[in-house]
Amino acid sequence: MSGKTYEIGVISGDGTGPEVIKESIKVLKAAAARFGFKLNFTDYDFNGTRYLRTGETLPEGALDELKRHKALLLGAIGHPGVKPGILEKGILLRLRFELDMYINLRPVRLYPGVECPLKDKGPEDIDFVVVRENTEGLYAGAGGFLKKGTKDEVATQESINTRKGVERCIRYAFDYTARRNKGNKLTLSGKTNVLTYAFDLWERVFYEVAKDYPGIKPDYAHVDATTMWFVKNPEWFDVIVTDNMFGDIITDLGAMIQGGMGIATGGNINPDGTSMFEPIGGSAPKYTGQNVINPLAAICAGAMMLEHLGETEAGKTIEKSVMEVTAKHIKNLAAGHMGMGTTEVGDLVADYTAKI
Ligand code: IPM
Ligand code: MN
Repeated sequence: MSGKTYEIGVISGDGTGPEVIKESIKVLKAAAARFGFKLNFTDYDFNGTRYLRTGETLPEGALDELKRHKALLLGAIGHPGVKPGILEKGILLRLRFELDMYINLRPVRLYPGVECPLKDKGPEDIDFVVVRENTEGLYAGAGGFLKKGTKDEVATQESINTRKGVERCIRYAFDYTARRNKGNKLTLSGKTNVLTYAFDLWERVFYEVAKDYPGIKPDYAHVDATTMWFVKNPEWFDVIVTDNMFGDIITDLGAMIQGGMGIATGGNINPDGTSMFEPIGGSAPKYTGQNVINPLAAICAGAMMLEHLGETEAGKTIEKSVMEVTAKHIKNLAAGHMGMGTTEVGDLVADYTAKI
């Protein structure tokens, strides 16, 4: 019973975003009632529909307004009527960069009962966390065109890796591995054999920082091999730290081995500021309004948010409730294959959360 009140900014977004966020909030309210704290939700309509109406992605003052919250909950942004890149850069990436959410924390955990595409692998084998750098690398936007549209065209896209950005990410990953206290192993996933500047920096900083954490075993894997191990021996991993682009790619594979986008969650974390929690799947516009989309990823995003806010017991209770639901009620997590509707899944998790 913390008795605290938390201000939460909610960006439901596009497509099925609002449907899954509604269920997440339903479950969060059940947790708040049970564990004695208050959540005040404020809605923001920063999404594709608003962009098509107004021509702006984030309006003037939006960043300052959002910064006043310790946590934000995001549904999904992406609209079939908007050219790819505009909403991603204008809203999602802008929030990550400008609010300096420098960690993208993505747990890969197979819950009991969930169908896994890997043969002979179960929940005890698939339980690791990817710490993805979230503000630099190829995402920094460095590069450009020369002679665009001509036969001599040149396009460059550079990976920006700053000592400060790399070090704070690696330190976060070591601290996280120590806090998690499961395998006490941190794997740097990189490409030191080819990207001999960027990952030289990452590798040097990694082994330097490792000296401050004698209880954690530092480990290295090339990113291509990492994807191979995800499929062959996922039980080898405890925590993985990697750059922005590699983290983006390997966590989609991670999502698949944990049962799909219906369950995969991420936190965009600024340890000293505002953090944003989101299901990592997209807005799935074709399922909008049909009550078939899986809200579990958004519900898990809510659980992660509570843990981040310090309401650890409440967050863990939601996660346990999700496990009850996967173990006893839904095997296939794909939209339309759950055997029940979006709102029913939310009701079930909320019921467990109230009493489990
Ligand atoms: C993710 C997404 C985003 C990314 C896109 C939508 C810009 O794929 O959160 O993983 O590339 O980071
Ligand atoms: Mn991605």
